[in-house]
Amino acid sequence: MKAIAVKPGTPNSVHLVDMPKPTVGEIDNGRGVLVKVLRVGVDGTDKEINNAEYGAPPPGDDFLVIGHEGFGIVEEVGPNVHELKPGDYVVATVRRPGHSIYDLIGTNDMTTDDTYYERGINLRHGFLSEYYVDDAEFIVKIPRGLKEVGVLLEPMTVVQKGITQAYEIQRRLKVWKPKRAAVVGAGTIGLLATLFFKLRGMEVVTFGRTPRPYTNSDLVEELGAQYVSTADVSLPDHAAEKGGFDIIFEATGFSPIVFDAMQALGKNGVLVLSSVTGGDRIIDVPADKINLEFVLGNKVMVGTVNANREYFESGAKDMAAAVLEYGDWLSKLLTHPVKGLENYKELFELLTTGKGVIKAYCDVAADARSAFE
Ligand code: BGC
Ligand code: ZN
Repeated sequence: MKAIAVKPGTPNSVHLVDMPKPTVGEIDNGRGVLVKVLRVGVDGTDKEINNAEYGAPPPGDDFLVIGHEGFGIVEEVGPNVHELKPGDYVVATVRRPGHSIYDLIGTNDMTTDDTYYERGINLRHGFLSEYYVDDAEFIVKIPRGLKEVGVLLEPMTVVQKGITQAYEIQRRLKVWKPKRAAVVGAGTIGLLATLFFKLRGMEVVTFGRTPRPYTNSDLVEELGAQYVSTADVSLPDHAAEKGGFDIIFEATGFSPIVFDAMQALGKNGVLVLSSVTGGDRIIDVPADKINLEFVLGNKVMVGTVNANREYFESGAKDMAAAVLEYGDWLSKLLTHPVKGLENYKELFELLTTGKGVIKAYCDVAADARSAFE
């Protein structure tokens, strides 16, 4: 079967590989699931792996099949799989267990191990291939009515985890009821975070660099949230004028904005950081002011990466709620389809230079595409 791979360590090495079709028998507890891949989304992580900024092949291979935002249909299950059957639409989680106590209880996303295993990212092949096999434990069923947008579930889980963790932390406050939320960044994750907050009835301001109106600001406004360009007003200035936020979700990929967000948090507020920033930027910040306000305001800041099965399940529910509440809003995020694995160059061009791209994705196999018709 065909797959899209990189040679970790070699910049711009994305290429097509031919490899054997996997079998359910590869999972030796009888819990194997063979999934025919329908769609795979790509994001900044794939771009950075192709830039050789990080990423490692599975032991014994010199290439890494990329793609961690997978969506597919079950083709075959092992004898001990009872919760999934051929024909089910599914999405697989990304991280696989290591050895820490958090891994042992199914929360691989909270591992304290130095090495982490992520399909399509680190030490495990990903989903940009015609098929994959995995243990049923890592495969989550999606309602049939979400098949058009199921490829957005993995990015949605990043939001689900981050904000759910924030709520867990805020149980310290006994009566926390967030009313005003801010989202920093209006890419796929920022838009999905805006959706999360709007589904819970909050007043939401989403900050982006680009002046409105453009597709992303239109999508923010369609949800009844407000779009503000940081070219017009900075986060600290906005908060000084309109008041601080109860919760802020940061997803820009630009670390200096974090210190602005810290200054836009209200008393008892929580700031969630989700950007994976591989650089080594150094900046000046008003350290005394930020520290003082954090201390006097009992504020919290939390980092979040990846997501375990629980968040895939809650994410699918939120996506179903979004379809009921906002119609085809989610499908408007799927701006740039690329047909077929063989068009991997086009996929990566969209990632690097694509103007107006929210989500670029690959409709994997020709016959798989008919699943959407
Ligand atoms: C993925 C996460 C992953 C993270 C770090 C993100 O792009 O969506 O699942 O944990 O990168 O590798
Ligand atoms: Zn990702």
